[in-house]
Amino acid sequence: MKYEVYVEKNLPSLEGKLFLVTGANSGLGYSACKTFLAKGAAVIMACRNLKKAENAKNKLLELFPNGKIDIVPFDQADKASINELPKHLEKYEHIDALILNAGIFHPGKNLFTKDGYSLTVGTNFIGMYFAVEALKDQIKAGKFKRLVLVSSIVSHQGRSRHYEKYFKQEHRSSFKQYAVSKRMILEYGLYLSNELYGQVEVTLCHPGLASTNIVGGEATTFSKRFQHLGKKFMHKFGNSADKSSLCLVEAAIKSPANLGYFYPKHFFHIRGIPKEKRLHLNEKRYARLLKSLSHL
Ligand SMILES: NC(=O)c1ccc[n+]([C@@H]2O[C@H](COP(=O)([O-])OP(=O)(O)OC[C@H]3O[C@@H](n4cnc5c(N)ncnc54)[C@H](OP(=O)(O)O)[C@@H]3O)[C@@H](O)[C@H]2O)c1
Repeated sequence: MKYEVYVEKNLPSLEGKLFLVTGANSGLGYSACKTFLAKGAAVIMACRNLKKAENAKNKLLELFPNGKIDIVPFDQADKASINELPKHLEKYEHIDALILNAGIFHPGKNLFTKDGYSLTVGTNFIGMYFAVEALKDQIKAGKFKRLVLVSSIVSHQGRSRHYEKYFKQEHRSSFKQYAVSKRMILEYGLYLSNELYGQVEVTLCHPGLASTNIVGGEATTFSKRFQHLGKKFMHKFGNSADKSSLCLVEAAIKSPANLGYFYPKHFFHIRGIPKEKRLHLNEKRYARLLKSLSHL
């Protein structure tokens, strides 16, 4: 089914709702905002590069001239910026879903976040974890109806007995770093759904394979040729960014919610419209992660 048809036929009106998306200036985050706006919702784009965010906002306003779009600064690789997020959100009484989407797939070695964590794990997981921690008071006060965590199909290749060894050193390949970061996100989602039960709904998703800027982000060291081939590959075998972002959107709006896991339905779950399954909560599934978190 085409993206446009899915949006028209399968998604309800979202008039009056408000969604906050991290990493919203590009790829899946941008497409999710587009879909929310198409259904009448308002969006807050949380982005590290305000110029890119303004450009993305203007593109969205061309599509939806009456769209309600705010931008808040948010760098998931910088704890000081992360800790400012609650302040930027004070003026919003209620947010229907916070979609924790920002992430990188970075090939460089020995690159670190502002706080000295290895760049991929530090951005994708640790920064996201710090953001949720920073927002805990607002979450507990009921500001958010739902949290959506964006993992990846490669998360099953990221299991580790000691996640903490990935925190400060660029261990192993960039692929392993990425897979570990996405595994931690999955396990953290399970943990949060338990810890915050009754205070916020938690859903997870993975977008399969989507043609985005993930292999060509801001600080990439992939060659231009690799970036070009990567995008072509993702385009041929995966979904468009718009279509994959439907997994994020469904994870943000569909009921019943807690522990729903949304991912593409077809071709080994890398393409197609969203499918949902229920994850089972078992504390053993995140016990190792919790031990590792004590190292932060
Ligand atoms: N594309 C896929 O096939 C695929 C598959 C599985 C999972 N995912 C996940 O989907 C999410 C979105 O990725 P995408 O494919 O849409 O890639 P993308 O087009 O590169 O978008 C990533 C977004 O995250 C933002 N971001 C990166 N580092 C950030 C930071 N430190 N602080 C705040 N924002 C930051 C980027 O901002 P800048 O523009 O400033 O860099 C951009 O807006 C990621 O978590 C990724 O791991 C993607």
